[in-house]
Amino acid sequence: MILIIDFGSQYNQLIARRVREYHVYCQIEAPSISLEAVRDLNPEGIILSGGPSSIYEKNSPKIDAAIFDLNIPVLGICYGMQFMVYALGGIVKKAKKREYGFAELQITKPQGLFKNVRPRTNCWMSHGDSIQRLPKGFKITASTVNTRVAAAVHRRKNLCGVQFHPEVEHTPQGKTMIRNFLFDLCHCKRSWTMKSFAKDSILQIKNQVGNKRVVLGLSGGVDSSVTALLLHKAIGKNLTCICVDNGLLRKNEIENLKITLKQHLKINIRFVNARQKFLNGLTKVTDPEKKRKIIGRIFMDVFEAEARKIKDAEFLAQGTLYPDVIESISAFGGPTSVIKSHHNVGGLPKKMKLKLIEPLKHLFKDEVRQLGKELGLPEELIWRQPFPGPGLAIRVIGEITRQRLAIIREVDDLLLEEIKNDRYYNKLWQSFAVLLPIKSVGVMGDKRTYENIVAIRAVTSKDAMTADWARLPHKFLAKVSNRIINEVRGVNRVVYDISSKPPGTIEWE
Ligand code: XMP
Repeated sequence: MILIIDFGSQYNQLIARRVREYHVYCQIEAPSISLEAVRDLNPEGIILSGGPSSIYEKNSPKIDAAIFDLNIPVLGICYGMQFMVYALGGIVKKAKKREYGFAELQITKPQGLFKNVRPRTNCWMSHGDSIQRLPKGFKITASTVNTRVAAAVHRRKNLCGVQFHPEVEHTPQGKTMIRNFLFDLCHCKRSWTMKSFAKDSILQIKNQVGNKRVVLGLSGGVDSSVTALLLHKAIGKNLTCICVDNGLLRKNEIENLKITLKQHLKINIRFVNARQKFLNGLTKVTDPEKKRKIIGRIFMDVFEAEARKIKDAEFLAQGTLYPDVIESISAFGGPTSVIKSHHNVGGLPKKMKLKLIEPLKHLFKDEVRQLGKELGLPEELIWRQPFPGPGLAIRVIGEITRQRLAIIREVDDLLLEEIKNDRYYNKLWQSFAVLLPIKSVGVMGDKRTYENIVAIRAVTSKDAMTADWARLPHKFLAKVSNRIINEVRGVNRVVYDISSKPPGTIEWE
C-alpha cells in the first residue's frame, strides 16, 4: 500500500485515483499521523501531497520528519517536496514569479521517476514558493525555464520530489512517473482489485460481526445496495435492511427494490411505510433547508423505531464513501462552507449506540460500481444516477402536497423512460424534472388552461462538484415536452434548465 499525506491539496483525491488505477491500494492520512501509525500501516511508499500553504507560515501543515529515516521511498509533490527539502535542511523561498500553468520540463536523465519519459515534456505547475537550495545528498533531475529545481532525488536514499503535479491530466506523462514510483522505486504489486477487496472485506465483516446482528438503512442507491449485498454475502440473515418509504421516492421504486434485492438476491429487507408521517411533517414547509432538516429528523425517528424491533442489533452499516472520509481528515480539518446540508442521517449512530460498519469507506464511486458488478448486483442498480436523500421533496419547489408529488413522479418517470430509450441515461450524471411553484396560461383543445410548469434538468459531471447542462438535441427535448404536456395532467409548459454549476447547483433547492 501507498500512504498519501494530505497537505491540503485540491488534487489529493486525484493522487489516490492515479495510484489505484494501477491496482495498488492507497490511503490518505492527515499530516498529524504519528510515526508509530505510519510504521503500523507499513506502506511500500509515501506520497506527500501538494497544499496551499507556505512552508514558513506559522500553521503550515507538517509531518514528523522522522518518516524520511524509515527507509521507505517518499515522493514529495509541490508543497510536499518543499516540506521534504525544508525538513532535511534545504532552503525554500518565495519565488520571484508565481508559476501557474504549463511549463516545459527538461529532464536530465530518463531514469528513476523519469524512466520512459521524454526528455522534454509538459508539466503542470501551481506554486508561489520555490526551492533555493537542496539539502545535502540531493541532486536536480529536472528544470523548467522559471524553476531550476523542478525535480530532485537523493543520491543514496529513496527520496524524490517534483515541484509540478504529475497527478493531473495537464502533465501528460505524469501517469508514467507515478507508475515508475510505484513499481520501480516502491516495488508495489498490482494486487488491489475489487475481487480481492470483496474477498477480504467479507472475511473481515464475518470476523468483526460474528453472530451478532447488523442493521442497514437501504435507499436503493448504488452505495447502500452494494453495502447490503456485501454484508448479505458475509453474514446472510443476520443483516436486516430497513427501507423507509418516505413517499418522496420515484415511481415504482419500492416495488422494484422488492423484486431485485429481496426476491432475486434474497437480502433481508423490511419496508416501512411512513409516507403520511413525512407528508404531515412537510405541510406548508417551503424552505429547502427546513425540508431537509424535517426529512432527516423523521427518517431518524422512523428508522430508530424499526431498528429497535431487531433484537440484539449491535452494528449499524452505512455506505459511506472515501471522498466523505477524505473531507473530514483534510490537512486543516473539517469540510468547507455548507451550501446544502446533504448528510441527513449523520446523527444516527451516536444516538442509537450502535457500532458502525462502513465497508466502502475507502472506495471511490467507480470502485463501488466495480464491486457491485463483482458481487452480482444487477446492472440497472449499479449504473443508477444519484438520487438525493430528501427525494422529490426538493424537486417540488415550494409547498409539497400529495397532488404535486404525484405530478412530479409521473413527469420524472416519463422523462427517464425517454432518456433511457434514447440511450442518454449512462452519459448523464443526473436527469430529472422539477415542479415549479408558479402556473402559466396555455391553450389546449381551444380552451384556456392555467396549469403547472415543469423544468427539465440534465447535467454532465464527474463528481457533482461542478456540472454542465447537457446539450440534449432539440428533437429529443421536443418529444419529451410534447409527451409530458399530453400525458401528465396538470402540466401545460415545459422549460429546459441551461445553467451550469457553479453558479447554479444541480438540484434547484
Ligand atoms: P447540488 O444540488 O448541491 O447537488 O449541486 C450535488 C449532488 O448532491 C445531491 N444532493 C443531495 N443528496 N441529500 C442527498 O443525499 C441532499 O440533501 C442533497 N442535495 C443535493 C444532488 O442530487 C447532486 O447529485
